[in-house]
Amino acid sequence: MKVTGSTKVLGIFGHPVGHTLSPLMQNAAIEELALPYIYIPFEVNPGDLESAVNGIKSLGIAGVNITVPHKEKVIPFLDEITEEASLIGSVNTIENRNGRLVGHNTDSMGYIRSLREDAGFDPKRKKALIIGAGGAARGVIAGLSINGASEILIANRTVEKGEALAAEFGKKFKEIKFSAHPLSSLKNQDIFSSLNLIVNTTSTGLEGKTIEIELRFTPSHALVSDIAYKPPTTPFLKNAQETGRKTLGGLGMLLYQGAISFEIWTSKKAPIGAMRRALMEAVKKQ
Ligand code: ATR
Repeated sequence: MKVTGSTKVLGIFGHPVGHTLSPLMQNAAIEELALPYIYIPFEVNPGDLESAVNGIKSLGIAGVNITVPHKEKVIPFLDEITEEASLIGSVNTIENRNGRLVGHNTDSMGYIRSLREDAGFDPKRKKALIIGAGGAARGVIAGLSINGASEILIANRTVEKGEALAAEFGKKFKEIKFSAHPLSSLKNQDIFSSLNLIVNTTSTGLEGKTIEIELRFTPSHALVSDIAYKPPTTPFLKNAQETGRKTLGGLGMLLYQGAISFEIWTSKKAPIGAMRRALMEAVKKQ
């Protein structure tokens, strides 16, 4: 990659940002298409977020990804956000559109693209069980809602959070049936009846724990998915595989959210193969 006087800058704002795989994936895409861009990690302390966002304009940065812990807090500093980002309540991609900063959220479409491309699963008219009710769950629920799911059940440790989420999305998507459940219901047969998809969005894996769930009660064709990508087969997915269910890990969501961001910034079709190879290599090394 040759950096010249006309190279355009992309990047990611996070804190800590050191663990991010996005620079490897995005620079692989840039190299594959030989585009005049470079993608750089920026360590941005929470107190510096506003000035860093203003810096996108003053430095003419073409676009950035936003990661933990800035995804919600960045919104007031932008000129506009998309309907999807507003629905999810967080932004993971900023586009510098001729000096106007537009906030997008590509996580939800990233998840849907992974469902379609990696698992051949179309959410239309499907019944899904989402475990978790945090930021990641919002992205998945938004994606499934926008793409025509018929029923969405939310199971969460803190039941009130699941109830609030079900009520909020129920108001926006009146044709979809939403309901909230305690985690204990994952041990009873009732909740699994005619489910097509189960998604673990909790951060339990990061804590070295797993969700207790009786997957043998799910219909045998159901797809079991975890949005965590490390390890590629999480304990949740291992349980599903041992029960004979099809599984989908989180690497595809990471890949496609990045691909959609790349397409927003460069208006070029993302080279998925090169991006996937860069990600897989990086995950293996971690
Ligand atoms: P993220 O942005 O990754 O979704 P988050 O907003 O902090 O992170 O949400 C984390 C989710 O994982 C929540 O649904 C949380 O449950 P609570 O709402 O009850 O906190 C869930 N979670 C985290 N650790 C958990 C554990 N040990 N057991 C069950 N659920 C857990």
